[in-house]
Amino acid sequence: MTCHGNAALSKAKHLRHLGLKIQGLRRPPEGAKSEDMTAEPLIARKGAPLKGEARVPGDKSISHRALIFGAMAVGETQISGLLEGEDVLATAAVLRALGADVERLGEGTWRVRGRGVSGFREPAGALDFGNSGTGARLLMGMLAQQPLRATLIGDSSLQSRPMGRVMGPLSDMGVEFAAAEGGRLPLTLTSPDRPRPITYELPTPSAQVKSAILLAGLAAPGTTQVIEPLATRDHTERMARAFGADISVEETSNGRVISVTGHAELLPTEVVVPSDPSSAAFPVVAGLIVPGSDVLVPGVLINETRAGLFTTLKEMGADITFENTRDVAGEEIADIRAKASTLEGVSVPASRAPSMIDEYPVLSIAAAYANGETVMNGVGELRVKESDRLAAVAAGLRAVGADVDEADETLTVRGKGGLKGGGKVATHLDHRIAMSFLVGGMAAETPVTVDDGAMIATSLPTFVDLMNGLGAKVERANR
Ligand code: S3P
Repeated sequence: MTCHGNAALSKAKHLRHLGLKIQGLRRPPEGAKSEDMTAEPLIARKGAPLKGEARVPGDKSISHRALIFGAMAVGETQISGLLEGEDVLATAAVLRALGADVERLGEGTWRVRGRGVSGFREPAGALDFGNSGTGARLLMGMLAQQPLRATLIGDSSLQSRPMGRVMGPLSDMGVEFAAAEGGRLPLTLTSPDRPRPITYELPTPSAQVKSAILLAGLAAPGTTQVIEPLATRDHTERMARAFGADISVEETSNGRVISVTGHAELLPTEVVVPSDPSSAAFPVVAGLIVPGSDVLVPGVLINETRAGLFTTLKEMGADITFENTRDVAGEEIADIRAKASTLEGVSVPASRAPSMIDEYPVLSIAAAYANGETVMNGVGELRVKESDRLAAVAAGLRAVGADVDEADETLTVRGKGGLKGGGKVATHLDHRIAMSFLVGGMAAETPVTVDDGAMIATSLPTFVDLMNGLGAKVERANR
């Protein structure tokens, strides 16, 4: 099959979900390896320099939140630039099942008629979050103070991810949980008769946990506080403010203290979703490592809680510039230009991890193309993402000839200025592992194959077309 055929195939599958109920998100049988019969292996080969503009879709974190806040507001919220990836579509379907009116008006343009902070109805069936940890954890917060009981399910990747980090503080707020062993999905949540607010210090930096507590706090009486010693992405705080919530953020010697007043009435607003820096990361790194490239990614969110990858790449000597920096709907955005560069290894401090937590897989690829050692410190959280990303990146890099060491909390890549390639990379149902290694194949001596590219549709359904539009050579591979 040609690359175009492959992209069309994914798109057809993807379009079936648009604006409709999510029916049967791709769900491998429990315990299935990613090399099952529904897998879509992809191969990336070295090609000509990458040139031109790559527009990536809306930010995934902001897209989830726009739908959720729209559903919690009273009245009609308009959203433009919404990411129509499977994760966000799953959130839209769940909100519909809870009684919100969520409608797709056109590409990326959606309208949500909300039910107020605690006006949701009990769903008729289980709520299916597919592959999405963000959707599941944020909605656990939103559901915490509704008068209902709900069961949350997800695919085998999501079922392996820890939910205890959200169940703990929500239990303190009065919610009851019955979860699978180890605090995992499927789980059933029963909201309390008498919700209570809490003050909670995050033991691990996590925007999902912070957001779940703040969303629960919007429907609890009194003031709910979250203390975060290291700042994580702040989209929930910004959006709560935009929807008229009473929320304050104080910088203290213990970190950020975020306070939200409950029983709020949220007012609908217009949300413009900027392009996702976590998706922009792929054409940017490809532009740096494919000789002779010059790539522009327009309108990308550069919020400092998300921009750690670009800071790190610049420290490595990358020719990256932010052009036409501007403010759109309360967020700073820029057109990002990346030109082929000679990269040097660096040490990435642990304190930077929250601002680039999803970008370590693709940074590891850049590190393999750099000269010298890149040490990524304090990255233990990568073990509980869509896959154990530390293990998946280390195994993948070895499979394509790179020199890598994996420790509990650290990943070290000894770059040799290029990548041998060859080999087949196991993606473990993880979209970012798939895209990162395909980027790695775009400049490798021999092509790189990933065992399954189907999950790319969760966050960047247009990846193959977008990269091939710049001149890359990504196509369907043989099983
Ligand atoms: C997200 C927070 C991060 C990130 C995820 C999106 C969010 O997860 O990895 O892709 O939208 O809040 P953690 O909160 O687990 O760090």
